[in-house]
Amino acid sequence: MILKTAEKILVIASITAAFSASCVNNNELDLYGIPDCDTTNVTWDSKISAIMQANCVTCHGEEVSYNGVRHDSYESEMVVVNDGRLRGVVNHLDGYVKMPKDRGKLPACELQLINTWLDNGAPEN
Ligand code: HEC
Repeated sequence: MILKTAEKILVIASITAAFSASCVNNNELDLYGIPDCDTTNVTWDSKISAIMQANCVTCHGEEVSYNGVRHDSYESEMVVVNDGRLRGVVNHLDGYVKMPKDRGKLPACELQLINTWLDNGAPEN
């Protein structure tokens, strides 16, 4: 089948539009932050404790506490908050071991919540 010139132009135009639309959307994260990530009122009690329970306490709790680090209470968390190790290990910064161990970084929203919490002075509640 032979397309008329007008139809060809239409096809090319819609392909071009589809490609440029996908490029524009790459900026969504910068513009709106992480989708569905509520970073208001981030405290140890409201959000951080649960993230630690789910991802860290099996290796850093009452029974096992590698490097003496525990994430099962606000007081013990403050040790690695104050010496900078918490921010270093979860963000995989140079010079720090990477946590959670043998896994990738935490999901983007959970990481953002921890960083927001640290930026705000790590409030308990
Ligand atoms: C599977 C076990 C495991 C899990 C899960 C785990 N860790 Fe660790 N963590 C370790 C081990 C083992 C070490 C000791 C250093 C090493 O061998 O890498 C450590 C060390 C650390 C240290 C001390 C680093 C230093 O320089 O002294 C911090 C802080 C830490 N982990 C935080 C976390 C956080 C936060 C999470 C959850 C996001 C987490 N860990 C999850 C096993 C784990």
